[in-house]
Amino acid sequence: MSALPPSPNANTPWSGRFTEPVSDRVKRFTASVSFDHRLAECDIAGSLAHARMLSACHIITPQDLADIEKGLAQILADIQANRFAWSIDLEDVHLNIERRLTDLVGDAGKRLHTARSRNDQVATDIRLYLREAIDQIRQHIHALQTALLDLAEQHTDTVMPGFTHLQVAQPVSLGHHLMAYYEMLVRDSQRYSDCRKRVNRLPLGAAALAGTSYPIDRLMVAEALGFDGVCENSLDAVSDRDFAIEFCAAAAINMVHLSRFCEELILWMSPRFGFIDIADRFCTGSSIMPQKKNPDVAELVRGKTGRVNGHLIALLTLMKGQPLAYNKDNQEDKEPLFDTIDTVIDSLAVFADMVPGISVKKQTLRAAAAQGFATATDLADYLVRKGMAFRQAHEVVAQAVKHCESRGCDLADLSLKELKDFSALITEDVYASLTLDGALNARSHIGGTAPSQVKVAIVRARESLKTG
Ligand code: ARG
Repeated sequence: MSALPPSPNANTPWSGRFTEPVSDRVKRFTASVSFDHRLAECDIAGSLAHARMLSACHIITPQDLADIEKGLAQILADIQANRFAWSIDLEDVHLNIERRLTDLVGDAGKRLHTARSRNDQVATDIRLYLREAIDQIRQHIHALQTALLDLAEQHTDTVMPGFTHLQVAQPVSLGHHLMAYYEMLVRDSQRYSDCRKRVNRLPLGAAALAGTSYPIDRLMVAEALGFDGVCENSLDAVSDRDFAIEFCAAAAINMVHLSRFCEELILWMSPRFGFIDIADRFCTGSSIMPQKKNPDVAELVRGKTGRVNGHLIALLTLMKGQPLAYNKDNQEDKEPLFDTIDTVIDSLAVFADMVPGISVKKQTLRAAAAQGFATATDLADYLVRKGMAFRQAHEVVAQAVKHCESRGCDLADLSLKELKDFSALITEDVYASLTLDGALNARSHIGGTAPSQVKVAIVRARESLKTG
């Protein structure tokens, strides 16, 4: 009997049925190893759990398992030491590791892929990777929340103008303003944590799409890898990327929150506002204009929000036309996902560093709050307390504001006599309502801006950060 002709794609495990090798261009086009090598540690963890199950179910021998364990341990060490030779001839992380395993331990390496496909393998790897990323991201959020609480605590009594339409609206406590971002981060963290529940399901066992004819034990693999359960339908298991989309949605919302905060910091640092300064180590200068100090970190986080939002749309679009089950399209899930993870982690980390570098110009903030009739609502509320209907009080105060505008003064600058011209109900005690601190202290209920309430909110927040 003559020997079999050499296979044209000698390097690939699927070359048997092919008559010519793929072109170099196609090889480069279809390979994913340049980016999916990041999954290597998860891939090895998944392979170990799979091999142990195969042995426990008598599908491979204990000797095969021992060889596989030894080989994978060496491969892991080589990858961690950066001496693993990745090859695009072997397409992706999975085939690279499997081929190396076979080179190291022979036939046992060839048995590892029993009852498995790259389709359930890659879905498992991504889920393991993302689970770890979510845990890290939530820690970074926690650190940023702590930094925000520390700053808010120093500024419960710092008065600033609260804005609507970017026009001065009512005075608020800067601590209260900062706590608004704290709240957004609470929801962000919850969203990631909720998404993690759906990430944490095991696809392995689905094999290519239909399941496998070997007597496998999926629950054993799920338990070994720390999954909460298995994906219940094999077709869904290999093709589902909802969990990645959900993660990107949570990340996009998270970045939008950071971006809004950045926008404020950038405005506040502009000399036109002059509310804050940001430490030099978070700013850069201009190569041409010697006077410039630019809030680059804040601008860059705001800018990076665009790419994270884009990745969410990329994944949604990736999935929208895919028939069941696995399609090669899915290889495109990784770069958006990895870049989202990197961008969110970097942005959160640099932000948490930057928050303690924010110095607040309290006097400028107070002066800004004193302009723009920030206590006009308080005067109206005062009149209501004296018996006037709110709509009428609104009208009366509008007249007083118009008068002040023509005179270039604030409501609090008007004499009692002048104020009485607008309403006879006004008496000496009105000035308590017209001051910034009076206006602040008056809003004393859960969620209000009174410094006493902000202090309580901070205590509550610290408590809930502790209990996670
Ligand atoms: N590199 C592939 C991916 O990322 C692995 C799965 C390949 N499966 C296949 N049937 N070609 O999706």
